[in-house]
Amino acid sequence: MNTSPSQVIEAARRRLGGRLAILAHHYQHDDVVRHADHVGDSLELSRKIAELSAEYIVFCGVSFMAETAAILAAPGQKVFIPDARASCVMSEMAPGGLAEKIALKLRATGRNLIPLTYVNSSGRVKALCGDLGGSVCTSANAATMLTWALGQGRGVLFLPDRMLGENTCDRLGIPPEKRQILDIRREGALIDPRAAQKAEVLLWPGRCVVHTRITAGHIRTARAAHPGALVAVHPECPPQTVREADAAGSTSFLIRFVQEAPAGATVFIGTEENLVLRLAARYAGEKTVIPLLASRCSNMAKITEEKLAAQLANLENEPPVVVSNDIREPAKLAVDRMLAACAPRTTP
Ligand code: 13P
Ligand code: SF4
Repeated sequence: MNTSPSQVIEAARRRLGGRLAILAHHYQHDDVVRHADHVGDSLELSRKIAELSAEYIVFCGVSFMAETAAILAAPGQKVFIPDARASCVMSEMAPGGLAEKIALKLRATGRNLIPLTYVNSSGRVKALCGDLGGSVCTSANAATMLTWALGQGRGVLFLPDRMLGENTCDRLGIPPEKRQILDIRREGALIDPRAAQKAEVLLWPGRCVVHTRITAGHIRTARAAHPGALVAVHPECPPQTVREADAAGSTSFLIRFVQEAPAGATVFIGTEENLVLRLAARYAGEKTVIPLLASRCSNMAKITEEKLAAQLANLENEPPVVVSNDIREPAKLAVDRMLAACAPRTTP
């Protein structure tokens, strides 16, 4: 008789008991989410690691999330990802070596900038931030962390997401003339040092291919077809999209936005479709939840129930995510600065 992936996962749970914890990001498919002990956004899942006593942590998300979990894991805990090829396109837009070269080049212009990286980045970029007095942010606490970094009075290098950076500057009232979008071609040889001297926030030109597809035009079309509809989007969307929406915020914010919408409302959500469809099903008959655009993260989709089952079947012999000490220690310092700077409940 064939054993289903679900049966394999349940058998592993019985075998490993409290030694196993399965974490899933909200963008995972329902087939994966239903097996998770904890479902959350990046910030919630980062915080969760410190509370876990499980020896085996299986992270269903993209690789930077599993790597962050490995950085935060206690000695003796092992972190696994069911498909190590599930990378984040945005995080790959800031290769560690290039980020180091450009940070040093900017310092050579006389600016002792504080680097602040979105958690969607490699361990090496987080380590650079830790080494240079900087930190990490998530979409839930970007405003808090940019305020923290600017408060040091040295200007900020924000990476890798230009959109989150611009939207956070808009939210904090930092005008466009105080921002500079970095030209990272030719290892930074094209960066204008005079503009770099003046800018308060220097933005790395990375972006999310899933969210930048969601435009202000999609919002106008949705509103024309559904007058009175509410619209909320993720801050990885372009600034024009965020300005057109009723609200913007992290994954957890978007979940609360739907939850708090009045009964009978039509709510358009601009983010990864798995989450939006799950919300639509959860509130069916009470309110109508519609994806602003059918936009899926192909890397999140690399994690499947079958791969989770295959990994759990033989977990004790699977290779865990490994982060070398020279990356882990400064990267942890950067993440710990974020956890310390943010109260446990952070606004979007
Ligand atoms: P959150 O920080 O909202 O979890 O988002 C992570 C992400 O990858 C969004 O594309
Ligand atoms: Fe990266 Fe975008 Fe996918 Fe999030 S949705 S993991 S930012 S590519």
